[in-house]
Amino acid sequence: MIKKGIILAGGMGTRMSPLTKAVNKQLLPLYDKPLIFYPLSVLMLAGIKKILIIINKGQLNQFRKILPEKNNLGISIEYKEQLNPGGLPEAFTIGEKFIGKESIALILGDNFFYGQSLTKILKKNINLKNGAKIFIHPVKNPHLYGVATLNKNKKVINLIEKPKKIKSNFAVTGLYFFDNKVIKFTKKLKPSKRGELEIIDLLNVYKKKNELKAEFIGRGGSWLDTGSISDFYDASNFISAIENRQGLKIACLEEIALNNKWINFKNIKNSLVFYGNCEYSKYLKSLIR
Ligand code: DAU
Repeated sequence: MIKKGIILAGGMGTRMSPLTKAVNKQLLPLYDKPLIFYPLSVLMLAGIKKILIIINKGQLNQFRKILPEKNNLGISIEYKEQLNPGGLPEAFTIGEKFIGKESIALILGDNFFYGQSLTKILKKNINLKNGAKIFIHPVKNPHLYGVATLNKNKKVINLIEKPKKIKSNFAVTGLYFFDNKVIKFTKKLKPSKRGELEIIDLLNVYKKKNELKAEFIGRGGSWLDTGSISDFYDASNFISAIENRQGLKIACLEEIALNNKWINFKNIKNSLVFYGNCEYSKYLKSLIR
């Protein structure tokens, strides 16, 4: 059972304009709440209560300003700094102490997941004891992502980062479940040509040992990457359309915590004080009415 999760929320990512790099993207509002709320909500939906957020040097105060403390979400949040963007697998060396001897979930701070089957898929896979699990989703532009090729038995036969020649339209999303060997395997990785440790190289270690499995997030689910400015605004519009149609919020952290029975109305009242007067607070008020 995976009980701990890491959110890698350093920097802007490779596809953002240098002009926007001064701010941490994960702090920017994706429609009506900061981007970091969305990956955090995915871990919470999976039932994960112990969370490590990896941030850039000097950004701790900014994160503390937007995420409620004092356990008002019924979870524990720790922070660690990544001094340079040395690649996604660095999450496991930076987080080594936090992970301890357990399995671990990793989610990239700029990934957005949504769909009716999402919680079911998460719960189905959270029992991982051995090996690694990736979550794949069909996309029109696979060359922008890590890509998985599968055989007829849905076994991963090839994994490649941002391929020039497209053999499959299954992108590897930014959500990964690993057993504890991930720390040992990360320490053996060598930087790629672009000077970073690559998550695909790490997954290939598991694949070679026949310990990599893939779960589909089918077309009923949505996976949006907020990698480029236009992706960021597309995701924002998507959330606005759904929330305004349904009157329900996506990634309302307190609502998930309440449904998981991790918090009570008093915690929500504390959150109301923390957020102040905004649309998100209005929604919180409707939960305790
Ligand atoms: O979004 C899914 C894709 O994420 C996967 O399909 C790819 O296999 C994976 O390599 C990754 O590709 P990206 O090109 O999107 O990675 P990027 O460098 O943009 O980083 C993703 C997020 O992680 C971004 O919010 C910044 C953060 N990050 C990245 C690096 C390299 C860090 O916090 N630290 C880092 O060292």
